[in-house]
Amino acid sequence: MTKDNTDSIFEILDIQDLSTEEQSLLQTAQEISEKAYAPYSNFQVGAAVMLSNGTVLKSSNQENVSFPAGVCAEHLVLSYAGANYPESAPECLAIVARRKGEQSWANVSPCGICRQVINEVENRFKHKIKMIILREDGRVYSIPGISALLPLKFDDLNS
Ligand code: THU
Repeated sequence: MTKDNTDSIFEILDIQDLSTEEQSLLQTAQEISEKAYAPYSNFQVGAAVMLSNGTVLKSSNQENVSFPAGVCAEHLVLSYAGANYPESAPECLAIVARRKGEQSWANVSPCGICRQVINEVENRFKHKIKMIILREDGRVYSIPGISALLPLKFDDLNS
């Protein structure tokens, strides 16, 4: 039997273990999550992305009464990045969430569609996207790239 789990490694860090830039990206995600339009779930997500040219972009989730028409924070910010900065690879994506009215942060993890979106962006720019995700306990998941969240992923129509 051959085992291959090299891609699924991620770390759980204290916020102080992150670089100053990463801490600031997380803070940006926290701030934008407050602007979420999430009247149906009350689950307010913030995502902030750092591009290779130093630009930071941010978004919250934007819901719709027709539920599938809603857009996740990660999907929205990465699509905006691809549309406006087609030459700058997204390098780091910070993700946070909070239930409306609550003080503490909630556990969150990109949904399946967002994982596929992140995968597409990695392939497009040939650059892994590091994800830092704030946990309910105040620590942070540090995930080196989408392979850790989407093993055996589908990304080649021709092989
Ligand atoms: N959501 C995100 O924006 N990102 C995630 O990583 C998880 C879920 C949104 C979708 C929906 O608006 C709400 O959170 C509840 O699922």
